[in-house]
Amino acid sequence: MKIQEAYTRWSATYDYDRNGTRDLDRQVTEGTLADRNCQNILELGCGTGKNTALLDRIGRKVLALDFSPGMLQQAKSKLKTDHVFFVRADLTKPWPAKTGSFELVVCNLVLEHIEDLDPVFYQASQSLKAGGEFFVSELHPFRQYQGTQANFLSEQETVEIDAFVHHLSDFTEAARKNGLSLKSMNEWWHEEDLNKPPRLVSFLFEKRAA
Ligand SMILES: C[S@@+](CC[C@H](N)C(=O)[O-])C[C@H]1O[C@@H](n2cnc3c(N)ncnc32)[C@H](O)[C@@H]1O
Repeated sequence: MKIQEAYTRWSATYDYDRNGTRDLDRQVTEGTLADRNCQNILELGCGTGKNTALLDRIGRKVLALDFSPGMLQQAKSKLKTDHVFFVRADLTKPWPAKTGSFELVVCNLVLEHIEDLDPVFYQASQSLKAGGEFFVSELHPFRQYQGTQANFLSEQETVEIDAFVHHLSDFTEAARKNGLSLKSMNEWWHEEDLNKPPRLVSFLFEKRAA
């Protein structure tokens, strides 16, 4: 099943399934970004809008992109505001986002589905103003090495969604090549993860002045 199709199938239950990774990501994102105050925010792979409500709180305008019609429909039904614009877009193609106009670009739990990080980091960097930040939160590669990937239960069957392994250095190198400096990197455990490798990794990059 294609990634886009799989997410549309998952969209009706994504918010309600038992999913520690989703819940931890929300906590981490809230903890990292809650004190920001931005004019324009770009969200990559917004899904059902789990983090979009926070972005709406900390930004005047949010452009939220995703390629799954089902996920976008869920997000739109939850967040009815004039400040958030949900647009269907494939992140592996050119984005409908204005160059140099965002203070913050965020991307949560999406990049495992994208094979080549470089074009994403290139477009994120292009979209940011100088000094702007790119926040990335992803399934930790240590978990990927053990075989974990995004999955959901559909009609009693576990559906695994196609995923690509990205090592920690793949993220930092894609950033470096595209004019983004690493401000911080953190590793995160869910409360059920005692003695296990970290579940999530997050990066905060800053766009260097030209
Ligand atoms: C695990 S969900 C995460 C959604 C949301 N960011 C969150 O944290 O709950 C992954 C999302 O990425 C989207 N996605 C995956 N590959 C994409 C691509 N190439 N272009 C646009 N969206 C993509 C999927 O449709 C899905 O909504």
